[in-house]
Amino acid sequence: MTALLSATGIHKGYPRHGGRVDVLRGCDLELYSGEAVAITGRSGSGKSTLLNILGGLDHPDLGQVACAGIPLRFDSHAELSRWRTGTVGFTFQFHFLLPDFTALENLLIPVRAHRRPGKDDLDRARDLLDRMGLSDRMDHLPGELSGGEQQRVAVARAFMNRPRIVLADEPFGNLDQAIGSRLGDMLFDLKNTDGTSLVIVTHDPRLAARADRRLELAAGRLVFDGGEGMDP
Ligand SMILES: Nc1ncnc2c1ncn2[C@@H]1O[C@H](COP(=O)(O)OP(=O)(O)O)[C@@H](O)[C@H]1O
Ligand SMILES: [Mg+2]
Repeated sequence: MTALLSATGIHKGYPRHGGRVDVLRGCDLELYSGEAVAITGRSGSGKSTLLNILGGLDHPDLGQVACAGIPLRFDSHAELSRWRTGTVGFTFQFHFLLPDFTALENLLIPVRAHRRPGKDDLDRARDLLDRMGLSDRMDHLPGELSGGEQQRVAVARAFMNRPRIVLADEPFGNLDQAIGSRLGDMLFDLKNTDGTSLVIVTHDPRLAARADRRLELAAGRLVFDGGEGMDP
C-alpha cells in the first residue's frame, strides 16, 4: 500500500552564528490513510520544522515529501499551495484566528480559497463547532473566547475542508494538561469520524497514547518513542 504522505531523507538546517545548524538530519516518515502518528521531542528538536515541511509550508534542503506517491513540487509555489489547500488542514500552538471574524466566519475562511461558502458549508461549520463543544460560541469574536475555546475553533477550522491530512502542532500546548487532554479527545473524535490522517506533535503522554504510532524526534531523526536509536 502506498503511504498517503511520505517523507524520505529530510534534511533541514538554518544559518546560525556565521555557521549552520542541522535541525533535521535524515527524517523518514510514512503516514497511511486514516492513521494517527504522534511526534514527541524536546523543545527545539525540530518538530515544527518537520511538520511545516510535511505540509508544504517550508521546503527541505534535501529529501522528498510525497503524497500518494507523487512528490511535492517545492519549486512551484502555485502547485504547492494548490496541493496544500486541497489536502492539508493545519492547527498550530497559537490559534491564528482572524480577530475581526466570528468563530463561524473563521471556519469559512478555508472554504473561500475554493468557492463562495454555501448552505452546506455553513452546516458543516456549525456541526464542527458543535462537536468541539462550541454551539453557544459560534457568533463570538476570538477576543471574546477563552484560550481553550480559541484553540477549539482553530482545530475545527483545520477540518473544515475535509482534508485528507491534518497536521497539528502542539494544538493544546498552552493549556492546562487536563483540559488539553479533553480537547485532544475531541480532536481525535473529529479525525475518526472523518477518517482523516493525523500527525500530532504533543507533550501530553495521554494524547500521544491515542495515536496509532508514537515517534520521537531526537538528534534530527525520527525514532520509536522510548526506543532511541531504533529505526521507525
Ligand atoms: N526560520 C528559522 N531560522 C533559524 N532557525 C530556526 C528557524 N526555525 C527554527 N529554527 C531553529 O531550529 C530549531 C528547531 O526549531 P523547531 O522546529 O521550532 O523546534 P520544536 O518545534 O521541536 O520546538 C531550533 O533551534 C530553532 O531555533
Ligand atoms: Mg514547535
